[in-house]
Amino acid sequence: MQRVFSGAQPTGNLHLGNYLGAIRNWVALQNDFECIYCVVDLHAITVWQEPGELRANIRELAASMIASGIDPEKHILFNQSQVSAHAELAWIFNCVARIGWLNRMTQFKEKAGKHRENASLGLYAYPSLMAADILAYKATHVPVGEDQKQHLELTRDIATKFNNDFSAEDFFPLPEPLILGPATRVMSLRDGSKKMSKSDSSDMARINMTDDADTLAKKIRKAKTDAEPLPSEADGLEGRPEARNLVTIYAALMDKPVADVLAEHGGTQFSGFKQALTDVVVDKLAPITEEMARLKNDPSYIDAVLAKGAERADAIAQPILREVKEVVGFLNR
Ligand code: TYM
Repeated sequence: MQRVFSGAQPTGNLHLGNYLGAIRNWVALQNDFECIYCVVDLHAITVWQEPGELRANIRELAASMIASGIDPEKHILFNQSQVSAHAELAWIFNCVARIGWLNRMTQFKEKAGKHRENASLGLYAYPSLMAADILAYKATHVPVGEDQKQHLELTRDIATKFNNDFSAEDFFPLPEPLILGPATRVMSLRDGSKKMSKSDSSDMARINMTDDADTLAKKIRKAKTDAEPLPSEADGLEGRPEARNLVTIYAALMDKPVADVLAEHGGTQFSGFKQALTDVVVDKLAPITEEMARLKNDPSYIDAVLAKGAERADAIAQPILREVKEVVGFLNR
């Protein structure tokens, strides 16, 4: 059976990169797979979260998924901390994964910064919890943006080692990453060499899912570009990361190949193209933003969706966890 699992962290500032790199693909996959989507709050607390903000961000992320088109009736939408199998399986995987593997994780190095000894132990073990998220459901496919590729390779390493260590061939499937669409790595609006990120200190660097039309127009108008007009062919974007980023965002939102966008807009100045881009971004995001605002006024609905989702997720994960415990040699109750 083909089962999709993916997640996003409720750390606020959900942005266009999250939407184009992940959530939009999650919506499309609902037609062909059984899908499980998760608000990964256990991952969020690997760096400090103010409790009141965390609570609001969990609801906001769930709302953005529903507003984007995730169907919590047909598929499963839930909150990681409400299903204990994630934390339990993560511990077992902490004992399977090797320190050397985790030492190679570039995201840990970036997030921990210079003072690595001060990072939480949870931040270091983060990929092992991510493997538990996926394998607690024996998921076969994981749609993510480019930046999660290394974590998924580690998940496959953990699954392989578990299967070998316990002579349980094929116990865990090796999940396939699905890195889909043209916008697998949306870049900052201020610096084409940095990815668009929730934690960028400049709000002007990202397009937030909650930005209103005026804010979107201002951010796109001020986005960094170079002085040349748009090229007519894709190889004209070489060495022009900011130009490439804006064209890619436009192509992704319009569901058109980059080549078609350039054939249409090649030779125009960025001022004109930015106006066209603003129109598309506003057009595509406004219905989602409006629905998010409506759902914000109904936290009890969101809480009920998450509670129901957790029950259904638990019903899949618990029997798998029982099997894992059996394989490891624990006594089940
Ligand atoms: P997170 O919360 O950082 O991001 C959520 C999703 O958005 C993608 N993404 C981007 N895609 C394109 N361009 C960007 N600039 C950009 N920024 C973020 C991410 O690749 C991700 O797909 N570790 C994960 C959450 C997680 C998870 C999982 C994912 C926890 N457990 C299990 C899959 C399966 C994360 O921090 O995503």
